[in-house]
Amino acid sequence: RDCTTVTTLQQKKESGEKITMLTAYDYPTAKLVDKAGVDIVLVGDSLGMVVLGYENTLAVTLEDMIHHSKAVTRATERIMVVTDLPFMAYKIGDINQTVQNAGRIIKESGAMAVKMEGGKEIVEEIRVTINAGIPVMGHLGLTPQSVNRFGGFKVQGREEVAAKKLLEDALALEEAGVFAVVLECIPAELAREITEQLSIPTIGIGAGKDCDGQVLVSQDMLGILSDFTPKFVRKYADLNQQMSVAFRNYKEEVESGSFPNQEESFN
Ligand code: KIV
Ligand code: NA
Repeated sequence: RDCTTVTTLQQKKESGEKITMLTAYDYPTAKLVDKAGVDIVLVGDSLGMVVLGYENTLAVTLEDMIHHSKAVTRATERIMVVTDLPFMAYKIGDINQTVQNAGRIIKESGAMAVKMEGGKEIVEEIRVTINAGIPVMGHLGLTPQSVNRFGGFKVQGREEVAAKKLLEDALALEEAGVFAVVLECIPAELAREITEQLSIPTIGIGAGKDCDGQVLVSQDMLGILSDFTPKFVRKYADLNQQMSVAFRNYKEEVESGSFPNQEESFN
């Protein structure tokens, strides 16, 4: 199979074929996501929450993103690799810094594109980044880097004014040249409306079935963490259960002397 490119994704939008995206932050997971034929692997700053144990994504650094993106690109062959620009690596009133930071991710990790959270307020930095040759994916709705402005993780775009602003932001991002836009935690009808109005693909998470594609955090859909699972997650596995059984069995078998046995030893 050929590599996924921005052209492949645009063709899928036009032909009505669904686009698939999952997150990965490490070599073995990225390898499996690529082999499964998924279109895009996102090295998301959700890394901070599902791998590094932070409460939100704000503490994740550019170095963290580059480090994990390198692990992912070492594993992948055909899938498109997109990396999140983390909090304070952009939207800081210095567009040159945005391009420098996006450029470091691409140069040092070999990722194909970057993702930025925000609407109209970031179209200038998106334009300049795209001019540098770096494809940009947008992200609207519940944008976790603004969690403290939202006052928590809440569904966005429920009121009419907020819904109208989201549609305008989406149109502004398309106009600025993003190749796709993630819609996170917004009402399904609003996501459908935005998807109809845009000529670029929308990729939903908690945004209903009518987006051009879907994305989930791998750790969530694999059921790795035992804590809170958002309503929009479907669990495709219960790795938490399987891993805890494996770890407990190992401990018991070492303690009882049944591991290692003769075949597992050198004579
Ligand atoms: O960081 C992330 O995993 C994301 C997805 C939820 C879209 O931004
Ligand atoms: Na993210």
